[in-house]
Amino acid sequence: MNSFMSWVGGKKALRDAICLRLNKNCDRYVEVFGGGGWVLFHKNPSKFEVYNDFNPNLVNLYRCVRDHPAELCEELKYTLNSRVDFHFIRKTLKTKTEIPDIKRAAYFYQIIRQSYASRLDTYGVLPHDMWRNFPVIYQASKRLQSVVVENLDFEKLVSIYDRPNTIFYLDPPYYTSERYYEDVGFTTEDHQRLCDVLMRLKGRFLLSYNDCPEIRQLYCKTGIMIESTTRLNNIALKYESGSQYPELFISNYNTYEEGLLSVRQINLFEDEKDTERLLKERKIIWKETMN
Ligand SMILES: C[S@@+](CC[C@H](N)C(=O)[O-])C[C@H]1O[C@@H](n2cnc3c(N)ncnc32)[C@H](O)[C@@H]1O
Repeated sequence: MNSFMSWVGGKKALRDAICLRLNKNCDRYVEVFGGGGWVLFHKNPSKFEVYNDFNPNLVNLYRCVRDHPAELCEELKYTLNSRVDFHFIRKTLKTKTEIPDIKRAAYFYQIIRQSYASRLDTYGVLPHDMWRNFPVIYQASKRLQSVVVENLDFEKLVSIYDRPNTIFYLDPPYYTSERYYEDVGFTTEDHQRLCDVLMRLKGRFLLSYNDCPEIRQLYCKTGIMIESTTRLNNIALKYESGSQYPELFISNYNTYEEGLLSVRQINLFEDEKDTERLLKERKIIWKETMN
């Protein structure tokens, strides 16, 4: 199913590729940098699931979608698609003003939906029918019923949920794009901190990143597998058709074998030839002493 919201860096275009590679032996799924949750909403539910993000407005929105979908939709019913309202709300959310949770969630959802490319800062000047989102909000609420929603920094979250049977999916702010998430203050040094946390893990991890020399170098380590891939670049596509964005998948287990397992167990792709092609096309750029 789809997420109820778009989000900067959302993994809509890569979600099939990511689900294909998720470790199937782990029954605890933890999405560390949740954002729009495109992978969580797309994957089959696990026995135990956690959604986390360090952005408090985003996490409040998730909790209201899960626990109060009717009240949230009621609050959203009379929103105006207006530049004046957009800037008023943006400013209000930045002040320390006390706003009840459901109203705060409605405000935040409104600026996600009405900003340019969901970047939250610029009014998008696009027609938007808020009522069309209501069925999607109810579906998301149902899907989230047994999902734990956390608002922690990644290091703390990992220390709480790390077990041998946990699979962490991580989609951090991309190298040199940290500024897109100004509310949480991810820094260049945090890429190294994340790598240090992941190297100490008892469980399994799958990490998606932008393909750049700094990240390749950071993860060229024993027991780590790195694959390169591409996805369509949604924003650039408006100006240049077929524009691709190079990405990396980094894991501490063999994602190639997971791919084969997915195909055999759940028959993910209908056509056998499509499956074989998809697996053959994979470009493994680093793999040394895998388990
Ligand atoms: C690339 S986005 C994730 C997109 C998501 N995978 C999706 O499909 O929509 C990265 C997310 O990391 C969150 N974030 C940034 N710093 C964080 C931190 N220290 N701990 C946890 N989350 C953080 C941001 O708020 C942002 O939502």
